[in-house]
Amino acid sequence: MALIIEGKASIEVNPAKVVSKKMEVFYNPLMELNRSVSVLLLNSIGKKGMQIALPLAGTGVRGIRFLKELDKGIIKSVCMNDYSKKAVSSIKKNLKLNKISSKVKVSMNDANLFLLNSKGFDYIDIDPFGSPNPFLDSSAKRLSRNSILAVTATDTSSLAGSHIKACIRKYWAMPLRTAIMHEIGLRILIRKCQLIAAQYDKALVPVYSYSSDHYLRVYMECRKGKSHVDSVLKMHGFHENAGPLWLGSLWNTKIAEAVFGLNKEQKYAKFLKTISEESPIDSVGFYHLPSLASRHGNMPRIGQLISELKSRGFKAARTHFMENSIRSNVPYEGLIEITEKLKFKA
Ligand SMILES: C[S@@+](CC[C@H](N)C(=O)[O-])C[C@H]1O[C@@H](n2cnc3c(N)ncnc32)[C@H](O)[C@@H]1O
Repeated sequence: MALIIEGKASIEVNPAKVVSKKMEVFYNPLMELNRSVSVLLLNSIGKKGMQIALPLAGTGVRGIRFLKELDKGIIKSVCMNDYSKKAVSSIKKNLKLNKISSKVKVSMNDANLFLLNSKGFDYIDIDPFGSPNPFLDSSAKRLSRNSILAVTATDTSSLAGSHIKACIRKYWAMPLRTAIMHEIGLRILIRKCQLIAAQYDKALVPVYSYSSDHYLRVYMECRKGKSHVDSVLKMHGFHENAGPLWLGSLWNTKIAEAVFGLNKEQKYAKFLKTISEESPIDSVGFYHLPSLASRHGNMPRIGQLISELKSRGFKAARTHFMENSIRSNVPYEGLIEITEKLKFKA
């Protein structure tokens, strides 16, 4: 056993070199960012009296961080569930270690049964190993009005186009295998969640999304009512032959700015700043400069191009999805014309 400190939580874990589905309970250090963003997001939204559900709680580290790091008044209760006996005993041990005994409930059940047997939640976090698909229906059923559904997908090989048939089977859409594949995968995942919730007259509107290392993550606000659902469904369509997918915004700009603003960890600052800067730009996909260079010859430096686009009244920023890439509302032909002029000036 090893003691790990993450945020304000102390966690006793079985150290493992490689985290895999076969391990019954595990602490995955690669998911620290995932958990930190969930803390920042709930503090940014600042909703009070929330009933929080962690149906796949693992070691309990996320729930413990919520209980120790969320602002006063945000939590009414945190329900931590896992179907593994070892996970549940680890959650209980870690709660004791962190001296937490109130506002928390621990259960050992299948995640779907746990959700279906509940009266509903203001925040449900689906953080499995692999696809979130098996848990979407029960989550959608138990989302309260204006609640948040957080979804992680680690099966990026399907969503980002390495396994086209798997993506069609599991996410009912055609992926893409180009520089923008992770954004496309995220948009395909969002549409799948939206379709599941639409059946129950619930509209899921993304408020914060990102791709990191080996996973995709999205937070969606649940609005109840047929007209909200119809507006969401109208925003499904295709992009460069990929889709159907969500064509709307991936972020609520105020939340993206607040998540960056509240962060105190230097190691996440650049990543969260980039997301906050790209969040107001309404565009599906982005321009990957090395791909453009292979078609149009050398490109100007990214900083120079962003300044030039802004000076001409376009929105432009780097994107967290890919190095050397620009998210902008400039049309393709316009961008090429500007790069040619910049080359001429140089
Ligand atoms: C990726 S881990 C969860 C990590 C955790 N959310 C965190 O933030 O550290 C997935 C967990 O889901 C549990 N699990 C998998 N399938 C489940 C199911 N059908 N019902 C309940 N728990 C399940 C596993 O035992 C494992 O502990």
